[in-house]
Amino acid sequence: MWRKAAVMAVLALAVGYLYHTDPDLPQCVLRFVTQSIPQVLLSTQLEANVPSLEEAISRAWDSLITAPTRQWGRIAVGVNACIDVVVSGVGLLQALAVDPGTSRDHDVLHSKEDVKETFIHYMERGAAAERFFSDKEGFQRIARAAAEYPGAQLYVGGNAALIGQKLASNPHLVVLLCGPVGPKLHELLDEQIVVPPESLQETDEYHLILEYKAGEQWGLSQAPQANRFIFSHDVSNGGMSTLETFVASLEEFQPGLVVLSGLHMMEGMGRTLWEERLREAVAAISDVRNEVPIHLELASMTDRDYMSSIMKEQVMPIVNSIGLNEQELLFLSQAGGGPHSSLAAWDGIPDVGRVTDILLWVLEQHGRADPESEADLTRIHFHTLAYHILATVDGHWVNQQSAVAAGARVASSQACGLQAVDVSKVALKAPQSFYSSFSEPRESLVLNPSSPVTVWRRGNVSFYLTPVLVCKQPLRTVGLGDAISAEGLIYSEIAPQ
Ligand SMILES: *[C@@H]1O[C@H](CO)[C@@H](O)[C@H](O)[C@H]1NC(C)=O
Repeated sequence: MWRKAAVMAVLALAVGYLYHTDPDLPQCVLRFVTQSIPQVLLSTQLEANVPSLEEAISRAWDSLITAPTRQWGRIAVGVNACIDVVVSGVGLLQALAVDPGTSRDHDVLHSKEDVKETFIHYMERGAAAERFFSDKEGFQRIARAAAEYPGAQLYVGGNAALIGQKLASNPHLVVLLCGPVGPKLHELLDEQIVVPPESLQETDEYHLILEYKAGEQWGLSQAPQANRFIFSHDVSNGGMSTLETFVASLEEFQPGLVVLSGLHMMEGMGRTLWEERLREAVAAISDVRNEVPIHLELASMTDRDYMSSIMKEQVMPIVNSIGLNEQELLFLSQAGGGPHSSLAAWDGIPDVGRVTDILLWVLEQHGRADPESEADLTRIHFHTLAYHILATVDGHWVNQQSAVAAGARVASSQACGLQAVDVSKVALKAPQSFYSSFSEPRESLVLNPSSPVTVWRRGNVSFYLTPVLVCKQPLRTVGLGDAISAEGLIYSEIAPQ
């Protein structure tokens, strides 16, 4: 085999060389080379009748995804919501009449000069950054200029609002959204969404997203790559100010499911404030817990210490379900000394065996894998770019295959800005064989494109993995995690106890 591979490599190099020296190389030469490559090495896409892996997976999803027998009916979502204003960074600063100049990083922004200096600092590095702007009036002036800037795009932002929007696209659901909803956001929200009057406010919480392109120049500064600089004066979301209103509104709304997000917004308050507020949040969530299942969306955490205190303050065991990505999963393990916590970060696509080890540990340490446990946590929806895993404690949930597949299907279409998967615009990046654990004993598993949910069990937990068809030219990935979790919940059902 190695000999064949070596021949292929030499052949490939030769073609590359020929092509490089003479781009008009006759097609027949290329055809000769490709024809001499064994069929198995060629993408099956070249053969007209055989569907590509992507096509097979997409088709199989459509036939396997079925609605649960009992739907939630009413879902209450809270508590972070805002408006994302996406605008050209240089354009906005010019409109604010600031001149280009020196770069300087500021932890907190107090003026438009601070915005300029910090923006330039990150633009010159092509790095993403997010900052708090301290002055309320000053921020409102900048936000108004941004929203009115020609070509500025206004989007619904904040995990709760994004989850609410996704849920509301399902005609069988009544959705309540609680969060700081200003007039503009109210206008952008799906008509079907119910907003309790107590959570309406006079002004919107704007998050300004200053974009720049690769190579873009301003004064003497140039961006090595495209990226964005984000800032806001968001005190409502920062303190989860509508959490108590949210909990109070549940009694009247009588939801079948509660979805909570926005805990991560408190990171920015500073340690002493969030320690206090987190305790209050736990008390508020505890009031809900026995009545109705709670899903907590953790995605978009960035502070490891904060994640650690979320675990220590016992948020984890009082919710039934969590949604998170690979970064938060590793934070969880690091915070509690779990499996693979010595990894500093994932290297490329997270190893399925390692991910499984951590998911099992979370459900055994902080969940109800042992029926004797007091914890409520029985479900984790894990998402990373290349694949998703739904892990559930046996006996508590049904329709998992549909739920995980529906989440992956929405990721595969939405990243390309489409309503349905376009198989020509996506690529399979998930491993096609993997293990149920990083260490022995472990089961060897494969991905079957015509039945694209791989299932395995460890202890009292079942794992459902499906690949994502990754969009080759993604348009907008903000809120993708929220859409995945929302879609997964729509197809999930609690097992009758
Ligand atoms: C799995 O469930 C059984 C009872 O059904 C229990 O005895 C056992 O301790 C559980 N295993 C773990 C690892 O919690």
